Amino acid sequence: MNFTEALEAALNRQRPSAEWLVPLLEAQGEEEHRLFCAADSLRSEQMGQAVHLRGLVEFSNHCRKNCRYCGLRRENLKLSRYRLTRQEIVEAAVWAEQIGYKTVVLQSGEDLYYSADSMADIIREIKSRTELAITLSLGERDEITYSRWKEAGADRYLLRIETTDEKIFRNVHPDDELHQRKQCLLVLKELGYQLGSGILVGLPGQDAWSLAGDVVWMHKLGVEMIGIGPFIPHPETPLKHERGGTLSQALRLVAVLRLVFPFAHIPATTAMGSLDPSGREKALQAGANVMMPNITPARVRQLYELYPNKICLDEDAGHCYACAASRIASLNRTIGTDRGDVVKAPRCRSPRDGAP
Ligand code: 5AD
Ligand code: SF4
Ligand code: FES
Repeated sequence: MNFTEALEAALNRQRPSAEWLVPLLEAQGEEEHRLFCAADSLRSEQMGQAVHLRGLVEFSNHCRKNCRYCGLRRENLKLSRYRLTRQEIVEAAVWAEQIGYKTVVLQSGEDLYYSADSMADIIREIKSRTELAITLSLGERDEITYSRWKEAGADRYLLRIETTDEKIFRNVHPDDELHQRKQCLLVLKELGYQLGSGILVGLPGQDAWSLAGDVVWMHKLGVEMIGIGPFIPHPETPLKHERGGTLSQALRLVAVLRLVFPFAHIPATTAMGSLDPSGREKALQAGANVMMPNITPARVRQLYELYPNKICLDEDAGHCYACAASRIASLNRTIGTDRGDVVKAPRCRSPRDGAP
């Protein structure tokens, strides 16, 4: 299928298939520009001009896993490790609400120091002291743990599948099984979390066909938030000599995802901003509608080094909020004034939704 036919298929809301996803994911030059414009219009039509801000607290960089792309992997002995206390995490959330956030994202490496119960206590305390939505991003845990956190008040969960390509997944995840990761996502969905997943773009061996498979899989699962990051090789990892992903690859995937998931919350991610100072703005103009500024206490920020040259390391929470706000204003967009929950039902149906 050529690019024009593929874009038609997308705009007619055809069921996603590699046949038309691949030409879009491989678009170059003028065609790439048309792809971004189509995604930007659909975002504007279906999700409006609001950009939702989520305050990200990276509360522990300890990790039991050894993902071959990640700077937090347990065999990176050069990294000094930290954990925030319950009080520090709660204070960060309370402060975030005072600054203007409606959501906090609590993220860490896979750190079992935070048990089902101790994490539930933290969630309950934040819920009792604020009106924030709470998103968790704590990796793979068992069903009982996920359900405790849900009962404690957690609203959303982010767990990137990273890739659904069995071979690539196995190559980069020495501790993980793809079916196990998929199972976690199914459990989270059944428990009633607003569900987020996502893809790392530019992993060794990944191509447009592989990414198309990821899109089809996420569509079947019915994810509601989708985080895309370019893979940025970290010098203290086994993948240090790999080429990594490009911003364009990531932006094309964002645009394709907007076309396939008109109502999803799609962030302009920090990794995009780390590859290019305007990377996040470019994503917001290619289908994205969320930003996740860092609200981690400045004293430990440098240590959450997933990849090199990460932005916002010397800033404090107030600075990043103001910075994000001015970037949003520069695009003539507005900051979301509500919690930015998952949109379950379309606000209005346009003819191209093709409702039966
Ligand atoms: N480059 C880009 N993103 C990375 N992540 C981990 N390591 C890297 C890297 N080297 C991402 C993974 C994970 C998220 C928390 O950080 O996709 O899900
Ligand atoms: Fe740990 Fe997540 Fe990094 Fe894997 S990607 S090493 S699970 S922090
Ligand atoms: Fe952190 Fe711009 S968002 S300095």
